[in-house]
Amino acid sequence: MGMDSTAADGLRMVSFAPGLDPADPGAADSRTRNWFEAVKLGFHEERADPGHLPGMVDAYQRDGRTLTAVYDDEAPEYASDPAVPVATYASMANRLNVGGPALLPAHLITMVTVRPTHRRRGILRRMITSDLAAAKQGGFALAALTASEATIYGRFGFGAASSTAGIELDTRGGLEFTAPRRGTVAVADSGKLLALAPEIFSAHLDRTFGALGRQHGYALRASGTWSEESSEPDKGLRGVIRYNADGVPDGYAAYKSLGWRTEPHTMRITDLVAASDEAYRELWRYLGSIDLVERLTFGVAPVEDPLPWMLADRRRYKVTSVEDVLWLRVLDPKAALEARGYAGNGAVVLDVVDPLGFAGGAWLLEVRSGVGRVRPLGAAEDTGHRRVELDAAALGSLYLGAVTGRTLAAAGGVRASEDALTVLDELFAAGPAPYCSTHF
Ligand SMILES: CC(C)(COP(=O)(O)OP(=O)(O)OC[C@H]1O[C@@H](n2cnc3c(N)ncnc32)[C@H](O)[C@@H]1OP(=O)(O)O)[C@@H](O)C(=O)NCCC(=O)NCCS
Repeated sequence: MGMDSTAADGLRMVSFAPGLDPADPGAADSRTRNWFEAVKLGFHEERADPGHLPGMVDAYQRDGRTLTAVYDDEAPEYASDPAVPVATYASMANRLNVGGPALLPAHLITMVTVRPTHRRRGILRRMITSDLAAAKQGGFALAALTASEATIYGRFGFGAASSTAGIELDTRGGLEFTAPRRGTVAVADSGKLLALAPEIFSAHLDRTFGALGRQHGYALRASGTWSEESSEPDKGLRGVIRYNADGVPDGYAAYKSLGWRTEPHTMRITDLVAASDEAYRELWRYLGSIDLVERLTFGVAPVEDPLPWMLADRRRYKVTSVEDVLWLRVLDPKAALEARGYAGNGAVVLDVVDPLGFAGGAWLLEVRSGVGRVRPLGAAEDTGHRRVELDAAALGSLYLGAVTGRTLAAAGGVRASEDALTVLDELFAAGPAPYCSTHF
């Protein structure tokens, strides 16, 4: 992605593809190994076992990741090898369901770390601004990330765009469902789930507004090939597959017991993907029927969850947390807004305020029969349509309709008349609630 450069402070920024050592295919090449070393330091994790790095390199290559490293060659005596970067960053592309006729490619940012000795001197700013410029140049309408802290990315034009719920179910005596059982469920052959999980996810992605394609690590984790924390196998993980009436697999779940010492006895669902409403219901029916289990937990349920509505006793379902997942940054308002599907009809001018300059300007959005057309307006051009002024981060939050323009106006990120807010919300917030369970 052409980010190689040396700044006035002597820090060198280099982008490269993850790779294996040409002399030893059982090892990662040295810059990839050092990059992982820096990531582990940044996220306070144990050093990677060198024997596991080729597997991680393989997964990263399948994801098409570009790694960026920032090096400080001025390391004092006794300090860590200057070949280990002081900052890391990675990007890859995947597709987002924006409710339009096609999935929209998005530029994804991940593995952002800056060493504590080098923090708050603009290294993140340097990495992200050059990367976003390259992504825009490369034709991406949107950039996306999932954030460790909510305070970091708003300044770069990212807005929280969708959330998931942490849920808990009391399954003592089994869960009763109101609808009759359909199809069948079988405990998975873990190795085969590795190949099947991406197929089922792809069908889920096609039908789920707000869903985002997943990196290869998800299938490795769903099959127990990797544990959640490391690339060691997880021997405690179990998988289950749901088949429809024609015997076609259309959902899976992976889960793990927290052990006999946890009271009440708890099964933690680590992944659950359904390609139909029926599959979603039947996976929960299975999970709710497992003997010796008194509680189920799941960290990434939809905020608009049909599950409590399926149960004979809805009070067995509790939301324990709601967390933002997907953060979006519009790079190209015309392409992003035309790709999206809309509920109604109407027109509005969006005056986007963007300090980084990618999305700024006035954009006339006209929606007819769910299809949006966008035209950039000249500085003095007045089309007579209602106008909404909004910050780039607010546009990111508005994009999937998880929050209304009216709420954002109350918060200050959107500035508009009541009439304009009504048009905005009819266009953006009237569709299904977005659901993205992909973290990266
Ligand atoms: C988050 C992190 C990458 C920031 O890197 P950094 O190089 O210190 O950031 P910069 O110096 O470029 O800061 C740019 C701006 O963001 C602000 N900022 C950076 N990190 C912030 C944080 N965690 N909370 C609030 N503000 C933050 C800075 O104050 C600065 O503001 P300004 O431009 O208004 O002066 C770094 O602190 C880190 O590695 N944290 C631990 C790992 C992590 O959380 N990574 C993010 C994964 S999503």
